[in-house]
Amino acid sequence: MGNELDELKERLIKEAEGIKSQADLLKFKEKFLSRKKGEISLLFKRMPTIPPEERAEFGKRINQLKQLGEKLLKEAEERIKGERKRKGLIESIPDPTLPGIPRKIGAIHPIARTSHEIEEIFLRMGYDIEEGPEVESEFYNFEALNIPEYHPAREEQDTFFIRKGILLRTHTSPVQIRSMKKRRPPIRIIAPGRVYRRDEPDPTHTPMFYQIEGLVVDRGINFAHLKGTLETFLKALFGEETRVRFRPSYFPFTEPSAEVDISCPICGGKDPECRVCGGTGWIEILGSGMVHPRVLEAGGIDPVEYSGFAFGLGVDRISMLRAQLPDTRYHYENRIEFLEQLK
Ligand code: DAH
Repeated sequence: MGNELDELKERLIKEAEGIKSQADLLKFKEKFLSRKKGEISLLFKRMPTIPPEERAEFGKRINQLKQLGEKLLKEAEERIKGERKRKGLIESIPDPTLPGIPRKIGAIHPIARTSHEIEEIFLRMGYDIEEGPEVESEFYNFEALNIPEYHPAREEQDTFFIRKGILLRTHTSPVQIRSMKKRRPPIRIIAPGRVYRRDEPDPTHTPMFYQIEGLVVDRGINFAHLKGTLETFLKALFGEETRVRFRPSYFPFTEPSAEVDISCPICGGKDPECRVCGGTGWIEILGSGMVHPRVLEAGGIDPVEYSGFAFGLGVDRISMLRAQLPDTRYHYENRIEFLEQLK
């Protein structure tokens, strides 16, 4: 009997040493200490078969075994916990030899970049940058620009209305009026920003796009100033070799008005099959003209004393042209593959 108990004690100690995991812990507990089938519990059940004179001694020894088992179990549990903690700590130490995670570097959006380049050119010519609200009044967007109600130009610029009299500006031209009211001549400003039109998106239209407005007002400003300025600007943007052509046109807010074309920056007018200029050799790039006297008046400027010229261009179109994009909607798809190509 004594041997059996000594042997059990040895096994308890040995197996406790072998405990390495939570699963081992459970196995140990089950094997020795489980109430129904644990080896120690079974010993208690043998009590009645032990001769009475040995019973007290036997009871004492199996009680000691039970306590030992419980103590070993507890120690093993502590040991495992400690090991786990140490391992966790080690794993949380950064490994400086691991390769880094490459960071995606953003790029300036092609429209923003084009806009900035244009702004730079005019800043060098002494212009200031103005801004106006995108939510604009009908008055500034139309009336003050000599576009009365029922004027067909209002239909050409299908408008998003916020409520009666308030709309999303359809062009940057209202900033002309705001700048004249705020400044005294000489005025030399450009006004970049978003404009909105109720257009169905297609390869050359999006309901929101970017324009840059220009306005110069002073004594004695004439058409030669307009021509010289726009030629200088377009050559700076598209290259010295660029040719510039003025075509008579009509805008309600300028008189006379001109549309301005540049020689095709892709084929230079040499490719009759050119997809960019359609073989014509020319690309329409902006609208311009001498500021209409009524527009000067709406801006609080005396048209007898002062004159001016204005122009407006589409930034998206220019960005498209330079990147040779087949579809302006690429600008607004936020596809990193597209933006990365134009870095
Ligand atoms: N506001 C015109 C448009 O959106 C563009 C324009 C044409 C602006 C002639 C001007 C200008 O300042 O003189 O179509």
